Parts: sequence; structure tokens; C-alpha cells
Amino acid sequence: MTDHTTATALPDSSVVGVIGAGTMGAGIAQVAAAAGHPVVLFDAAPGAAAKGKEGVAGQLGKRVEKGRMSEADRDALLDRITVVDALEGLSDAALVVEAIVERLEVKQEVFGTLEDLCGESVILASNTSSLSLTAIGAGLKRPERLVGMHFFNPAPVMQLVEVISGVATDPAVAATVHATAAAWGKSPVHARSTPGFIVNRVARPFYAEALRVLEEQGADVATIDAVMRECGGFRMGPFQLMDLIGHDVNYAVTSSVFAAYYNDKRFLPSLVQKDLVDAGWLGRKTGRGFYDYAEGAETPEP
Ligand code: NAI
Repeated sequence: MTDHTTATALPDSSVVGVIGAGTMGAGIAQVAAAAGHPVVLFDAAPGAAAKGKEGVAGQLGKRVEKGRMSEADRDALLDRITVVDALEGLSDAALVVEAIVERLEVKQEVFGTLEDLCGESVILASNTSSLSLTAIGAGLKRPERLVGMHFFNPAPVMQLVEVISGVATDPAVAATVHATAAAWGKSPVHARSTPGFIVNRVARPFYAEALRVLEEQGADVATIDAVMRECGGFRMGPFQLMDLIGHDVNYAVTSSVFAAYYNDKRFLPSLVQKDLVDAGWLGRKTGRGFYDYAEGAETPEP
């Protein structure tokens, strides 16, 4: 076992690169900047990184309004996040956290490019929800530098970070990421790379069985959510949570776990969810999922 107690967190002065400025990347950039790091944020979609930073500004603005943060602290935090329009902007990073689309070949390509751009000692971290860290790192010249750093949604709020080691991951790299996440105020846990890791593996039946009750017309979305909140003790029902996560992401995670377990029927993806993905009804981020988030909508979230 790694001795986690002796690992040192990255110093605040070290640059943290974040790739992908969507739901998770923007939140991770906020967390790293809040811990004092200079952060460089990149997204392949034009304007997306600037939009991600605007989202962070919006979140921090609410804290300022509530008196939980001073304007000076907000401005200083935002000043630490630099938006760049090319991957080359991340070349000085000591740690790069990738939070792009949940597709193995796209992540492999990005890390392959980064390996040549960044310095020898850079730590390459993926926020993947379910993909094998061993497979993501397989094509790298130095796969020992690749590790999973799996935040939960919303990243600035949720405490847990799963630190995932693939077959080739250097235990010292995993220990540094663990110590860094702890220094960022998170509660990290170590895990080996198995499909879905801990949380997304254990949570699959929560989504899958709720979707099956719906498909069998056992109860509607709002009823199932209400039952799980009120009697199950969950803060959010399964449909609310899937709308928050994003159906594209949630469906990709189920599909990846299903494939990784040789099409084990326990993890069979839902056609109802695939329909939402095909329709572009991805949940909160597109304004429509199982619930309608438009103002005055007929089926608003409870
Ligand atoms: P998202 O769809 O909100 O954002 C993804 C961003 O990545 C988009 O802005 C897109 O333009 C950008 N992107 C796609 N390909 C790119 C590339 N090749 N280079 C640079 N940027 C690229 O997705 P979200 O929800 O932030 O998920 C990102 C990753 O985080 C996925 O791997 C997902 O499985 C994982 N994750 C998602 C959680 C969630 O609740 N949504 C929770 C924890 C992990």
C-alpha cells in the first residue's frame, strides 16, 4: 500500500490546467483557483472556456450577494483563471485535469498531445466517470503519470474525489493527487480502476431500476423521485440527479460499464434515456430532460 501520509500536495504556486469547461471543468477550475493555484482553462468549442469562466463568476457572485465571500476575494479568484484557446497554453502546468467528453479515443488523443506539450514532471489526471485509466494511458510514452481525479457534481460543493490508479499509474503520482485534493478541502479516496470505480458502479442500479419502473409504467418520474427523496432519504431522486449529471454523460457511463462487464444485463442501458440523448434533451444544461427547466414550464422540477 502507498504511504499517503508522506505525500506532499502540489504547491499553490503550481499551474493547474483544466481541459473541458463544461459542467465539471468549470467547477474544477473554480476549486483549484479557490485553493490559490493559477489555472489555465481550455475547451475545444469556440467560446466555451470563456462561458465556463462566466459561469464561475455567476456562482461566486451569488456568494458575494449572500455575504459569504468578499468582492476582493471573488475578483482575485477569477483573476487566477486564464482562458486559453489552444492546448499549448497548458504547457507550464504541473497538473492537468481533463474533463472532456466521455469517449476513450478522444481522451487518449488529448493526453497523447499533452504528453509532448507539457514538462517531464507533469501529472495528467482524468475526471472520467467510468472509463479505464489503464486504457486511457495505454498509448502514452509514460503512462505512470496518468491518474484518475474524479470529482462529483457540482465540483465546488461535493466533498468526495476518487483518485483512480490504472495498472501503470505510479503510486507516488496517485499519492500527490490525493494530497492535493485534500489540500483543496476535498475528501479523497484511493481506488483501483474498475468499471465505474466506486460511486458510479454502486449508483448504476439506482438509475437503472428507476428507469425500468418508468419503462414498465409502474409510476411516473415525479412520483419515483418523490418516493426516493421522502422515503429513501436521498437528497435528489434518480431522475432529478440524471438531469443534473446530463443524459449524454449518464448514458455514456452506463454504456461503458455495460461493455466493460461483457454486456452484463445488470448494466443494460435504457432506451428511454437514449431517446433523451437523441433528442438533445440532456437535462439542466440544455433546459430540458425528464423535467422542463424553462420558466413557466408544465413539468418543472419539484
Ligand atoms: P460537458 O458536456 O458539460 O462538458 C464537456 C466539455 O468538453 C464541452 O464544453 C466540450 O466542448 C469539451 N470538449 C469535448 N471534447 C473536447 C476536446 N477534445 N478537447 C477539449 N475540449 C473538449 O461534460 P461534463 O458533464 O463536464 O463531463 C466531462 C467529463 O467529466 C466526462 O468525462 C464525464 O464523464 C465526467 N464527469 C461528469 C460528471 C457529471 O455529473 N456531469 C460528474 C463527474 C465526472
